[in-house]
Amino acid sequence: MENKKNILIDCDPGIDDAVAIALAIAHRDQLNICGITSVAGNQTQERVTGNALKLTVFLGAEEIPVAMGAKTPLLREIVPAGDIHGKGGLGYCELPAVEKTLASDNAVCFLREKIMALPAEEKMTLVPTGPLTNIGLLLKVFPEVKERIDQIVLMGGAAVGGNVTATAEFNIWEDPEAAQMVYTSGIPIVMCGLDVTMACGLNREQVAALGRSNGRVQKAYSEMLNFYFDSPAYRNSDRVSIHDAATIMYLLHPEYFSGQWMSAMVDCSEGVNRGMTICDSRANQEEAYETGEKNVLVLQQVDQENFQRVLLEALTQFDA
Ligand code: RIB
Ligand code: CA
Repeated sequence: MENKKNILIDCDPGIDDAVAIALAIAHRDQLNICGITSVAGNQTQERVTGNALKLTVFLGAEEIPVAMGAKTPLLREIVPAGDIHGKGGLGYCELPAVEKTLASDNAVCFLREKIMALPAEEKMTLVPTGPLTNIGLLLKVFPEVKERIDQIVLMGGAAVGGNVTATAEFNIWEDPEAAQMVYTSGIPIVMCGLDVTMACGLNREQVAALGRSNGRVQKAYSEMLNFYFDSPAYRNSDRVSIHDAATIMYLLHPEYFSGQWMSAMVDCSEGVNRGMTICDSRANQEEAYETGEKNVLVLQQVDQENFQRVLLEALTQFDA
């Protein structure tokens, strides 16, 4: 596709995953969405996969192929986030059933196929917004894809803090071993961690305005986001963090963000910090930059006003 950025979205929809998908679909003039793959995380493999299929049809992008990915993390059972995303995975929103079927029931082979099928002069950007199980397996089983991947723009981790524990963010905590495979792959990573995604969101009035619309997409997304506001995490907040949307927003408008190149690794121990992303910003790592060890751009600030403007424009244009 001329001048469009080739992307593959690997996700666990999930309310904020659904927002990221809508933002991407609204910008297919700039993004060539080569496929969407599911990974168990926020909800079970069955639910997140069904939501991915339904979302592409609901958002008028039925042609985007969907492939089913991992049912569990590499070493453990999933711990879904039903309290945050609801039993169905999309909060109060129940999308219509669809006849659309999967392009593949093996996301890892699907990802490899899409990456290797690109014209020789083009590269792929991976956009993981869930646990990194599929991506870790892809890079280990098919290392030949690495030279065809331009960058990985992921939602996960935090240089400071956590949301599942004091030091671990959900996507990384769910599958630390897979995350370690990705962070140490040598592929440039743009890390949309909690440091920046906590400031990427919409406030109550903006979500209420979506709900007052007569537009089916705006209403559906208000039903999703209102579940957030009723959840323990946001019950007393005026704003919800739409973590995963930061990945697509970065691809569309990198100028809205700032950050710092660091080296990073993942705590895969069984200790209190399991799932922590250890981001090393020590200045004396100039040589680390040269050797590629500083391969992680940790985003730290966002232009919130523009983030909200572009996101709301995207959600409303579906109903125009
Ligand atoms: O910590 C936030 C991340 O965990 C988001 O990707 C959200 O969808 C959940 O998967
Ligand atoms: Ca997610």
